[in-house]
Parts: sequence; structure tokens; C-alpha cells
Amino acid sequence: MSLFHSVRVLALCLFSASTLAASPDGVVAVSHPAAAAAGAQMLAQGGNAIDAAAAVQFALNVVEPQSSGIGGGGFMMVYLAKTGQTVIVDSRERAPANVSADLFAPDGLPMPFIQASTSGLAVGVPGTLRGVDLALRRWGTKPLSATLAPAIELAGRGFRVNRFLAEDIVNDGGRTQLQPETAAIFRPGGVPLAEGDWLVQPDLAKTLKRIAALGPDAFYRGSMARAIVRAQQRTRSELGSAGEGRMTLADLASYQATIRAPLIGHYRGWTLAGMPPPSSGGLTLLQMLALLERFPLGDSAQGYGFGSPKTLHVMIEAMRLAFADRAVWIGDDDVVPVPGQGLLHRDYLATRAALIQPDRRMETPQAGDPAPWNKTAPQLKPSRIPAESPHTTHFSIADRWGNVVSYTSTIEYTWGSGITVPGYGFLLNNELTDFNFLPGADAASGNPGANDLAPGKRPRSSMAPMLLFKNGQPVAAYGSPGGATIINSVLNVTLNLIDHDMNMQQAIDAPRLSVIHATGKISCEGGQAYMQPRISSATQDSLRALGHTGLGETGTDGCKNTLGSVQAVEIDAASGAHRGAADARREGTVIRVKP
Ligand code: GLY
Repeated sequence: MSLFHSVRVLALCLFSASTLAASPDGVVAVSHPAAAAAGAQMLAQGGNAIDAAAAVQFALNVVEPQSSGIGGGGFMMVYLAKTGQTVIVDSRERAPANVSADLFAPDGLPMPFIQASTSGLAVGVPGTLRGVDLALRRWGTKPLSATLAPAIELAGRGFRVNRFLAEDIVNDGGRTQLQPETAAIFRPGGVPLAEGDWLVQPDLAKTLKRIAALGPDAFYRGSMARAIVRAQQRTRSELGSAGEGRMTLADLASYQATIRAPLIGHYRGWTLAGMPPPSSGGLTLLQMLALLERFPLGDSAQGYGFGSPKTLHVMIEAMRLAFADRAVWIGDDDVVPVPGQGLLHRDYLATRAALIQPDRRMETPQAGDPAPWNKTAPQLKPSRIPAESPHTTHFSIADRWGNVVSYTSTIEYTWGSGITVPGYGFLLNNELTDFNFLPGADAASGNPGANDLAPGKRPRSSMAPMLLFKNGQPVAAYGSPGGATIINSVLNVTLNLIDHDMNMQQAIDAPRLSVIHATGKISCEGGQAYMQPRISSATQDSLRALGHTGLGETGTDGCKNTLGSVQAVEIDAASGAHRGAADARREGTVIRVKP
């Protein structure tokens, strides 16, 4: 792999790049230029990658409010150059104390997703602010108030609505129209904001100013906390009081972010630091890589070049096998033990890899039984996979000292619950709909209900912030939005880098393929000109001939979707130089900052 070919930077040298200085440039890669500028401002003012990450996250709350914010949660992975350690701040939302596993199916029937996810019932206790504050206190150099300053300015002065925000308002599935406070911001006078409109958010500016002055307790206690609790009592008329949220002031006051160690795996001599439970991101990705390592991916002579039928076939089968395991085994490990050791054991994975046939699609795989390799694991049957969202956000940052941040955050669905806290201007998540709607726990089959709702538990995530290492040094940080497809977007990029000898920009631009269920319909890209090289109609016909579904009629081009949005930083192993790579699937932006 050559990570350091010429990279197409989408815009953007605020501070002009020049030849490599003694210390590397700081780099931010973010899905929105104004949020990238907020991070660059921190770096330019002498802040480190953690300070910049805080500023980016708060700015995203203003300019990409449909995807993440203080009403949600996320996972910030940090490589600390001084110690060589990688740490994760887990600010995943938690279920309130007053819930049971049948919250979304009180009568034994699952509520319709749209009703459940747009009611207060879906709102998890938000974690982003506690998480960012914890990261700043541990590893940052700037006070919380300084990192909030760019967001306060953006919310108070306003910014121009970009194409992506405008499209998300129009294609909101009703979410910006259900609650008057949300409609007032994004559909003033009943008219959806359009690209180029100027959006000012005075309530949000006031909220962020208050947090800057008083700290996170201004959010988790007192009047703002009372407003959050009241807001999540909103329900849909179809659900009546069954749709009212269960969060209390005590739930908010007791929320703590958690510091975790990454899940470490290896692939063809590279080391990956991935996200452990409560995300499925790391485990599922490492399982897929281990299954694929048995095939000579990248070797065109053997038919395994980029986008070839053989390559895509084994990718699809690896995805189906790993997602079958994910559906059963992975949830919040602090509540229900996840048999991670067994799931990643070489001998267990050999039994799974043996199911992949070169010349035809396998029958729908069940979850495996890693018990022999993981003493605590009973034999299980799959439970239903809940609906997952196409949104969320990812950004990557490296600073002049060599610290690197890979941060994915979310309010779950696009627009979260659609509930804006009245008077405070931020959206609340619908993260609890990432739990199983129907409880899976079953003593007879031994299903532990890994992702069943329980008090204080975190819903299973797919977020997969990633750090890639070579010879002990970080060489890339990346991740993606996209619900369960996140894991596959990260897989595609990893294979492009390691097996297909692409640089990071090529790896991002290349069309992606995703399957998120064991039953497995393919979702595949190619609709945009920059998605090169194309996955040809002939290749798609070969996949159809193997029995794969999701690509439509024979002879047609079924690769027209868009998957994820990967914002990345790459680090040259020899010189330590940093470069960003941005994804045009959103307004991906790279800014370099000279030391
Ligand atoms: N809500 C998106 C995720 O956590 O994967």
C-alpha cells in the first residue's frame, strides 16, 4: 500500500501549505467546511488534536445539526503521541433507569419505527458533552469555553445552508415538521430552508454560551436538564402515553462518559485499533478482515483485483457471516458479556470461513457458536436487527505533535427524534431505537439478549472510528456515518488501502459495496462520476449469476447508491507528514495548519 500518493484535497488551505517543516502540519478532515475551520482555528491557536476535535464537534452541532450534537453521543478515539497509547472516550447514550426490555413492544408487537423513533420514548440520555469535556480535561490544552467559541459564533452570526442540509430538510421523512420548535428553525414560515439560505440559531447560541460559562452541569442539571426531560415527554398521537420518554433528572445528572481501550486486530501485517462494545464496529470489522485474509485480495492475476466478481463475492460473504454473528452476540458488554475472544479466535473464524464457497452464494448463515473458544458463551439463535439510520458523522484530525483523533458521533437517525428542546435549540437523539425492538433473550435457546433494552444500558452501535498502524506508528485515521453500513464503508476503505494499493483519497473515492444482513441484499455505489473505477454491469451480472440479490435486473447497472462519508487523515510513516483526505459524498473539507 502506498498511503502517500498525491491526494486530491477538496479545498482548502486556509493556512498555506508549504514544504514539510520540522514538525508536521496539523490537519483536519471534516464533513463541513465551517466545522473544519473551527478545528483549524483551535490548531492555529496552539491547541492540540483533542481541542480541535471538541471545536469541530460543537460546530457540527450548528452546521450539520441533523447528524450529531450535544443531544446525542459518540466515540472519540485518540492516539496520544507522548505515550504511544490509544484511548477511546465512549459518550454513547444510555437508556434511562425506568425502562424494560419490551419498551418498544409493550403489547408484544413492535411499534412502527417511524412512530417510536419520533417519540420521546426513543431518546437516550445524551453523552456528547460529558465525553468532549472528559477528553479535554484529560488530554486537551484548552478550556471547554474556548472550544465552544467557534460554534457560538456560527450559531449566533449564522452560516449558509449547504446542499446536504437543504436536501436533508426536504427528505426528512416528516421529522423536521412534527415538532413546532424544529419546524421553526428548519422550515421557517412552513418553507424548507434551501441551499444558500442563511441560518441563524439564537437559541442554540444562547445554550452553547451558557455551557461555556457554567460547564457541562449547565446541561446535565438545572433548568436545561428540566427542559430536556420535558421535551422527551413528547409523544406521537398514535402511541399516546406509551410514546412518552422515561428520562428523569436523575438519569441526566448521573450520566458519565467512559474511557475504554481499543480493540486491537491485525490484517496482513498492519495493526488496527477499532471500537469495542457497545459498538459492533470493531469486532465485526475485524471478523470480516480475518475471513478475507484467506483470499489473495489485490492479486488481479488470480482474479482478485479491485471490484472483480471474485473480490466482491468474498466481501459479500464475509459481510453476511459477520453480520449474522453481530445480530446475536454484540451489545453493551458492560451489561451482557460479549464473547469477543471467541468471535475473533482463529479456529472459530476458520469454521466460518469454510462456509464461503467460491462458485455460489451460501445459504443464509446463522450466527456461529463461539462458545468453545469463549468459555462463557452459550449457543444462540439470531434476534431481529432493528432499523438503522443512514446518518451520523465522522471526522479525523492530526496535530503537529503527532496526536491523532478519529471521532464518530451521532443523534442516530437523520434529525434524531425530531424533537428540539424548546428554548435551547438543539435536537434530541433517537438512539434507543438502536436496541432490539423485540427482546431476544431466551433461556431455552440461550440467547443472552445482547442488545435488549435494560436500565442504564447503551444501545449497540455500528460506529467504527479507526486508527491504522504500521510498525507501531499510526498511518491513518478514518471512519464513516451510515448506520450498519458504517462497518462496511470502513471495510471497503481498509481493503482499498491495504490490498488495492490506493492512496487515501482514491480509497475514499472508490465505489463501495455493503451487505448488512445475513440474508443479504447488496447495496452498491457508482452513481457519481468520482466513484472510480466503476463496478461494471458485467461484474454485476457475475454476482447475480452467483445468486446475489439487490442489484436489480440482469444487464442493468444496480450500483447507484451512496454509502457513508469518510473523512480521513494519513500520516507518512517515514517523515511523519500529515495529509487529509475528504469525501465528496458530503461537503468533505481538509484544512492544513502550519505549526
Ligand atoms: N446510531 C448509529 C450507530 O450508532 O451506529
